[in-house]
Amino acid sequence: MKPTTLSHLRQWKQEQRKFATITAYDASFAQLFEEQGIKVLLVGDSLGMTLQGHDSTLPVTVADVAYHTRAVRRGAPASLLLADLPFMSYATPELACQSAAEVMRAGANMVKIEGGSWLCETVKMLVERAVPVCGHLGLTPQSVNVFGGYKVQGRDELAAKQLLIDAQNLELAGMQLLVLECVPTELARQVTEALSIPVIGIGAGNATDGQILVMHDALGITGGHTPKFAKNFLAQGGDIRGAVQLYIREVEQGIYPDEAHSFN
Ligand code: KIV
Repeated sequence: MKPTTLSHLRQWKQEQRKFATITAYDASFAQLFEEQGIKVLLVGDSLGMTLQGHDSTLPVTVADVAYHTRAVRRGAPASLLLADLPFMSYATPELACQSAAEVMRAGANMVKIEGGSWLCETVKMLVERAVPVCGHLGLTPQSVNVFGGYKVQGRDELAAKQLLIDAQNLELAGMQLLVLECVPTELARQVTEALSIPVIGIGAGNATDGQILVMHDALGITGGHTPKFAKNFLAQGGDIRGAVQLYIREVEQGIYPDEAHSFN
């Protein structure tokens, strides 16, 4: 299988071809996702909640992410593999370089970091040192204590304007991909249209270039709380392979997320 690269994602954006991505934390699921046709995988720090049972992503370490990145890379050799830099591991540009080195050596193709314009210097430094960067704006789970919970972001005019400015600043600094989490559909549309890089949404409506889901949400293993945007693709019967194919099809055809799984 030919490896997926950032050039493919840029081309899909130009062609307005929507794409589905998903989190993965181990070799078996990574292999299954790649075999079913998912081309982009994320080793998310959501592993702190889904695998480790914490109530936030804050306890996750760079070593945790590197461990799971190695496993996912073995299972999915051709996927474009993103790895999260966890809480405080990119508090300064120098720290970001050290943390990025660890997850890139583990097999990641790109790192994802959460935050706005304050990260421009970090993005520039990473990109100059050959580490591609995916940004993450909107509901950034590492900031849960600042937000006072897992709440939709960018709802008022000022916050929406700031988010758009942050996205543009980060693109100028060298960011090559953006994840937008839990923002109103209209704001996600504006950001997606304003940027020339691909934008991947989660709880951000269906106007973004791609979608991402935490694999547990896509398979209905959501524990106590199911986020509004989560959809259990296993619920219609069939097996995990069928559920992944359904997820890909619904994203590519713009069926998922519908209004019931979005914020307005
Ligand atoms: O950690 C994660 O899984 C993520 C996704 C929710 C995008 O950041």
